[in-house]
Formats: sequence, C-alpha cells, structure tokens
Amino acid sequence: MAKIKTTFFCQNCGAESPKWIGKCPSCQQWNTFVEEVVQKTAAKEQWAAPNMQANKIHPKRISEIELGEQHRIDTQNEELNRVLGGGLVPGSIVLLGGEPGIGKSTLLLQVALQMKNQKVLYVSGEESEQQIRMRAERLNMTMSETFVLTETNTQRIAQAIKLIQPTVLIVDSIQTIHTEHIESSAGSISQIRESAGEFHKYAKLSNTPVLLIGHITKDGSLAGPKILEHMVDSVLHFEGDRNYDYRILRSVKNRFGSTSELGIYEMQNTGLRQVSNPSEILLSHRDQMLSGIAIGSTMEGMRPMLIEIQALVSTAAYGTPQRSTTGFDSRRLNMLLAVLEKRAGFRLGSKDVFVNVAGGIKVDDPAIDLAVVCAILSSNEDIEINDKTCFAAEVGLSGEIRSVNRIEQRITEAEKLGFERIIISKFNQKAIPKSGKIEVIAVNKVEDVFKYVFA
Ligand code: TYD
Ligand code: MG
Repeated sequence: MAKIKTTFFCQNCGAESPKWIGKCPSCQQWNTFVEEVVQKTAAKEQWAAPNMQANKIHPKRISEIELGEQHRIDTQNEELNRVLGGGLVPGSIVLLGGEPGIGKSTLLLQVALQMKNQKVLYVSGEESEQQIRMRAERLNMTMSETFVLTETNTQRIAQAIKLIQPTVLIVDSIQTIHTEHIESSAGSISQIRESAGEFHKYAKLSNTPVLLIGHITKDGSLAGPKILEHMVDSVLHFEGDRNYDYRILRSVKNRFGSTSELGIYEMQNTGLRQVSNPSEILLSHRDQMLSGIAIGSTMEGMRPMLIEIQALVSTAAYGTPQRSTTGFDSRRLNMLLAVLEKRAGFRLGSKDVFVNVAGGIKVDDPAIDLAVVCAILSSNEDIEINDKTCFAAEVGLSGEIRSVNRIEQRITEAEKLGFERIIISKFNQKAIPKSGKIEVIAVNKVEDVFKYVFA
C-alpha cells in the first residue's frame, strides 16, 4: 500500500512545507500551516472526450500562429459582457469572487437562464435543486433550457459534462468542490487548487468557458491559494454595500480585456437589473439645496459618472477631532484638509470632518478632490453650492488645481445630465469641446474656486 503522504499548507497564501512551521515564510502570517493529506492517484482520463485527445507537442513560430477570429459568446448581459471585454471567450476560465449574500449566485444563474443558443450546465455545491428552481421563479425565467446539477465531486461533474456536453459551465463555488484525487476536505488549499486545475484542464481541452464562483476571506481577498488567481484567465469581483442595492462588478485581472471596466447592477426583488446610466442613481434627488453637498465627476472604467459627495464639518466634541470617510480614501482627506488649512487659511484643525460618497460606492479617482474640498467648505460655511454645478479636478499639495484625464467625456456627461456649470483645471482648458451649452470654468488655485462657488 502506498504510504500516505502529508504536506503542510499555509491556509493564507497556499505556501507548501514538508514540516509544520509557525510563521509562513511567504506571507509572514503566524499559525496558518495545516497538515493535509495529498495522496494523488494517477490522474484518470476523466476529462477526455473524443475531441479532447492530447495534442502532439509541437511548438510553433509566433508568425505561424493563425489568429482565428476572436469569437466571443454573448452572455446577453451587457454589463458582464463589457467587464469581460466583449463577452465570454471560449475555453477561458473566469473566477467571480464576492462576499456572501452579495449576489454572485443570482448573477450567474440569471446569466445562465438568459443566454441564447447555449447549453449551460449550472453546477451548485451550495444549494439544492429546489432552491435553484425557486430562485429561477423569482427571476421569472423558468422557461430556460439550463441544466442544473447539485454535486460537489469533480469526477461526477465530469460524468454529467460528458452526458450533457454543455457549451458553458458554471460552478457555484469552487470552495465546495472536491476531487477524489486528493484526500483533504473540500475548501482546503490543496482541494481548491486541484479542483480548479481540473476545471482549467477541461476548459482548455474542450474549449468550453467555465465560470467559477469563489468565496472571499474577511480581508477581501479570494479564499484559497494565490495560485487560483494565476490559473484563471479573468478574476471578477462583485462588490457593494449590503445596505445599498447597488452592486459593482469589477475586473481585477483579465487576459482578454481591460481591467478598468466596470459593471453596475441594482439588486431588485426580481434579480439584478443592469444600470446603464449610473449617474442617475448616484445623484440623489433633492428638492432644495443643502450645504455640504458637491457633485464630482469620476471615471469608472471608461464611463464617466457624476456622484454626490457629502461632507459634514462640526466642532469637535472631544479633544481629538475625528476624520471619517466612506467610499473615499481617508489619507487623501487628511491631505486635502491640510491643503485647505495651509493654502486657503481655513481652520479645520479643531473640527470633526466626515465625508461620504453617496450610493455606497468606493471612488479612487483623484478627479473628485475638488468636489470633496468644496463639499467640506460648503458645510463649514453653511453655504449651499448650486445644484447645477459640478467639479472635475484634482487638488495638488500646494493648492493648485490639476488636470484630469478624459475631460471631454466628463464635460459631455455633465452636460447630458443637465448641469449648467463645470469647474475644471486651467491645464485642461485646451481639451474642452467647443460647442456646448454647459459653462466651463477653468481655475488655477483652490482659492479661485471659492469665488465662483460661494460668491
Ligand atoms: P446570492 O446570489 O445568494 O448571494 P451569493 O451567492 O453571493 O452569496 O444573493 C442573495 C441575496 O440577494 C439575498 O440576500 C436575497 C437577495 N435577492 C434579491 O434581493 N432579489 C432577488 O431576486 C434574488 C434572487 C436575491
Ligand atoms: Mg451563492
């Protein structure tokens, strides 16, 4: 009988060690090594279909490689298509990560049910057939041809694949899947790696796209070995605040497209609705002007969006003033406050400052700096900013107003949404589109802005 071989794996990063060690040499975490049995039986020909014969090894010159037309499978979901770079690439493997309850299963089930001319196999290791059917009813899409399998064993999933010959495979969640080739329990590092490896092989050999759902850990990274992210072609993150209905699909890695693309959804009673005009939802509808609110322009992927920045400045109740942000980098806020203090002479050192990006989204585009600054001052002075004014500029350390990218698109978007005035940097002035109803105000220094805004 073969001797049982065990190896220690770091549960944080997947590093391997023949013996137990207290501190992982690769990710520096303590007490993360766990012993796992790795008894590999010879990998069987489980994925081999007649058309999946191993090719003869034959390296080609790069000039000899023919570029077949890059065919993409339309997922019938525009936001997802865009994030993927134009649709699903045959033979690609996509990993969708996100917090529990954010809507990963809903998104992929919805996509499975909507896809036209595709035979989709939806494998779930998390929910029962009845639950999936109930969800489909909720989505009002029970007439679909999608196949559902509740199974966690890769060998049996492979049998189902042979039987059905799907053109798209969805696996809800890789953490619940286990392969017989390895003896550790489902969800462990070596199981995830091995099972994902098998799906990878299947995707490449059969040219079928595979969508894997993955759990994420407390700190927001994908659970399982780092190698999982290397193995797949695209990594998508589905994020959002649970208290809000908006969900953002972000591409973190994409071998077939840009990683700056972004899809926006709204979770409704009947599933996820695609939001094709994000500005509309991110601007709250108010009847009266309020102080502490400024509208900033941000680029999410290739799309400009206008978002509402809310600030509250009040006298600190305790000795140390608080600075708190949601959706905005707090170090950046500290920097902007220092600039205001030093360059514009505002005394905010003894004030509590709270900044909030409306809609529960996170923004790291520096172009909203000016909106943040103006929202803070608006609250501090208790003077409201005209709600037909918006901002698109970065603020530098010396209080200078810096240019931002894609200014034409930002201006066009602001105009489309009915804004009458946009404040930008002098250095962006060249790029301004000529014809336009919107008034474009170009400024040089933070102090100049106040003349226009709080006049
Ligand atoms: P789910 O897809 O199960 O999340 P995940 O797979 O990421 O864990 O999403 C579950 C949440 O979505 C749940 O709280 C209920 C809600 N939901 C709706 O609001 N509307 C719907 O139509 C559906 C199907 C779910
Ligand atoms: Mg789920």
